[in-house]
Amino acid sequence: LLASAVALSPLAAAAQDMTIGFSQIGSESGWRAAETTVTKQEAEKRGIDLKFADAQQKQENQISALRSFIAQGVDAILLAPVVATGWDGVLEEAKDADIPVILLDRTVDAPEDLYLTAVTSDLVHEGEVAGQWLVDEEAGNDCRIVELQGTTGSSPAIDRKKGFENAIAGHDNLEIVRSQTGDFTRSQGKVVMESFLKAEGGENICALYAHNDDMAVGAIQAIKEAGLKPGEDIKIVAIDGVPDAHLAIANGEMNATIELTPDMAGPALDALAAYKADGTMPPKWIQTESRLYTAADDNQAVYETKKGLGY
Ligand code: AHR
Repeated sequence: LLASAVALSPLAAAAQDMTIGFSQIGSESGWRAAETTVTKQEAEKRGIDLKFADAQQKQENQISALRSFIAQGVDAILLAPVVATGWDGVLEEAKDADIPVILLDRTVDAPEDLYLTAVTSDLVHEGEVAGQWLVDEEAGNDCRIVELQGTTGSSPAIDRKKGFENAIAGHDNLEIVRSQTGDFTRSQGKVVMESFLKAEGGENICALYAHNDDMAVGAIQAIKEAGLKPGEDIKIVAIDGVPDAHLAIANGEMNATIELTPDMAGPALDALAAYKADGTMPPKWIQTESRLYTAADDNQAVYETKKGLGY
């Protein structure tokens, strides 16, 4: 009786003895820190031995980590790829060693047979949602937009830019007047926003589109220091749904965010367990949800709920 009470499901049993390498990008944003925490929790829940490597934003560190995981003979690798290109070689090495690789939150420009699946949001769609929100918000108004891009060469920076441009195309009242990388960090978001304000004059900027919330939060500081009201004088839309963005919306200092779940590992590890148990092939793309939050939502409540979730 006792034995059957503690018997593991075949999926849990498949996961239980696994050793998995996780090559994380770094800790550039609140969202990234939450993803790291959640990934460690999801692995622990399943009895997985997770080997964690922080690449400090460098692709070469990620490639070394992957090579080290391959040399150790791990059962699988989770990879959050800092940039989109340059992965073919090391992914081929993993494939030759029969080690499945799962991509987390960002995509790569590499043949699909080099990884098992990718757990990501629709990054282009996120940009489109942000752009459409601004199209509706500023209907009929001339609006000069500044854009804070994510890390150069990363799939979210490329795709979120593309999606936003798709959404505002054909709306001649909306124009992106400045666009520069803030590297997904709060500190660079502030520095680059200061330069936008200086170059354009704050009164000539109607809206900020930031590829993540951390850069938006840094920019809010710069806007305040310039004597302007963020969320009113300059409308702000960004992506992630980190607690500080919800708080900023609740306080009227930001206008909208598109939520990105930090739980990429849960679906990834479920797919991996099924694959290891009986060879079930997951879809090449496991898509996570993208939800828009605006001032119409109870952002104070969302802030409080999310504060405890690993952010
Ligand atoms: O790849 C996801 C992005 O990376 C998040 O939106 C951003 O905050 C992070 O740094």
